[in-house]
Amino acid sequence: MFGIISVSNERGEPTMNEMEKRISEIGVVPVIKLNHPERDAIPLAKALIAGGVPVAEVTFRAAGAAIAIKAMRDNFPEMLVGAGTVLTTAQVDEAMAAGAQFIVTPGMDPDIVAYCQKVSIQIFPGCTTPTDYHTAYKFGLSVLKFFPAEQSGGMAKIKAMSAPFPMFKVMPTGGISLKNLADYVRNPVIAACGGSYMVTADLIDNGKWDEITDLCKQSVEIVKAARNA
Ligand code: 3PG
Repeated sequence: MFGIISVSNERGEPTMNEMEKRISEIGVVPVIKLNHPERDAIPLAKALIAGGVPVAEVTFRAAGAAIAIKAMRDNFPEMLVGAGTVLTTAQVDEAMAAGAQFIVTPGMDPDIVAYCQKVSIQIFPGCTTPTDYHTAYKFGLSVLKFFPAEQSGGMAKIKAMSAPFPMFKVMPTGGISLKNLADYVRNPVIAACGGSYMVTADLIDNGKWDEITDLCKQSVEIVKAARNA
């Protein structure tokens, strides 16, 4: 309708701008690998939501990622659920059929980016080099995954990349923890930080849902404090 900014697309999903805004507001994106998606997807989603982190990147590294995505989407409509470690366009299809609202790839694959744009799903490709960023620029992307963050030079590299490419915000992922989260999120170039520290295999496999909630709450507090400092 004229004069009203749309927040959902033709599939009823948040628009790409809205998705980026909501992810930035939350500030952290749990990177999840579930060995028992039927058993763990729902309690895990509950734990994340209770901790103020209603978002998940469910990686295709584990079989059954699509089952987890579908369970979270079906049961928690307020949650943003994406697929991570997506390596093929077939996995994009599988993720979308399960209800994934965004796609994350570890690297910059122009074929997958083009495909995601064709089928209108948000894509966060892993980028760390000027060549990656330049390719992302050609696709008109605005938020990139910066992966693996710590191992690629961390905040110093992200700042250096922002000089020629100030149009991008990034989601650093890889080596993020409660200890260094603030160092990233205090910089306005950071959209959010991805990480598995609040959803480790130990926490999930042993059903430590309260600890997951607590780690999420601590993360949200760190993000708020760093951004308001
Ligand atoms: C990812 O897939 O994004 C990373 O493996 C997450 O990195 P982390 O386990 O160091 O948080």
